[in-house]
Amino acid sequence: MASHAIEVKNLYKIFGPRGEDYVKLVETGMGKAELNEKHGHVLGLQDINISMPGGCITVVMGLSGSGKSTLIRHINRLIDPTSGEVLYDGVDVCKMNENDLRAFRRHKTAMVFQKFALLPHRTVLENTIYGLEIQGVDRRESEKRALGWIERVGLQGFEKHYPNQLSGGMQQRVGLARALTNDADILLMDEAYSALDPLIRVDMQSVLLELQKELKKTVVFITHDLDEALRLGDKIAILRDGRVVQQGTGQEIVLSPADDYITAFVKEVNRGRVVNVETIMRPLSGNPEGLPLAAGTVLEAAARTMTGAQISNAHIVDANGRPIGAIDLQMIISAMVTPVQHTDRQAA
Ligand SMILES: Nc1ncnc2c1ncn2[C@@H]1O[C@H](COP(=O)(O)OP(=O)(O)O)[C@@H](O)[C@H]1O
Ligand SMILES: [Mg+2]
Repeated sequence: MASHAIEVKNLYKIFGPRGEDYVKLVETGMGKAELNEKHGHVLGLQDINISMPGGCITVVMGLSGSGKSTLIRHINRLIDPTSGEVLYDGVDVCKMNENDLRAFRRHKTAMVFQKFALLPHRTVLENTIYGLEIQGVDRRESEKRALGWIERVGLQGFEKHYPNQLSGGMQQRVGLARALTNDADILLMDEAYSALDPLIRVDMQSVLLELQKELKKTVVFITHDLDEALRLGDKIAILRDGRVVQQGTGQEIVLSPADDYITAFVKEVNRGRVVNVETIMRPLSGNPEGLPLAAGTVLEAAARTMTGAQISNAHIVDANGRPIGAIDLQMIISAMVTPVQHTDRQAA
């Protein structure tokens, strides 16, 4: 069975008429600034290796200009690489012929944009249906599918509205409904939520997480916001100047930032909402004591449960209800307020 994974391998993108000529120089250490000064070419991406597991949300994070859009556009080949591969289910998208590429774009990928890209003279329903129309799907079938997704993103009753009659959050819901109506395995979201007001943005994150529980799409989500990355990402890759400076789970990045740059990024993060109890638990000694806590519970939630019950000890149980470790309030508080050591357990 296909895993729907995306593998980016040794990907380079150098913008300019003779990009290929400079890959070697970049490989041997020439940086973005020097390449630009000496050769007038722009280093977009440099030796990118990221595996994006099927059915998971992979977040690509980085500041403006770090190469995020350049990377996501390689996945549906709106940009051709200077060198390297982008594999989807083992097939190199960069080597597809025109027909295969067109079919891949239409049936396997859907994009959600920051600016929504809705057609102003079409209603919500007609915007949502647009992709199916292009594919020549029967009108009644299209409507049925579109109406289902419009409802799922919370827009029932707005089918006949026009985009300018909707708030930004609602327009973004239309963008999402349109992407989902295409029934693609891959969802590409380039700063899809970055223009939304903070509360609406959190709402939209919840909508995506809720849908994803069931849909299990391969989502590539781009953001420059760490909180958003930590909330959404099963996996996070951080880009800087076209290079991956760190990739891993949110916990791994928060607990063991790879360099000063990432340390500065994660400094203000609320660890209690990112770190799980099993990351800091100690081995069981004797019978499990105190409250049972499910593995995967974040520290803040654990502290709330334990404080509420006025019980300061707990044991962690795995998905089968088997006790796997112990924790107490003191350990939780220490982990929330001071950096904890990276342990083997979290790397596993
Ligand atoms: N078509 C292009 N021609 C030349 N340089 C480009 C082009 N597209 C992007 N770049 C450059 O590549 C770098 C990465 O851009 P981009 O991927 O848009 O970053 P991000 O999405 O992270 O803000 C930037 O330095 C940008 O100026
Ligand atoms: Mg961008």
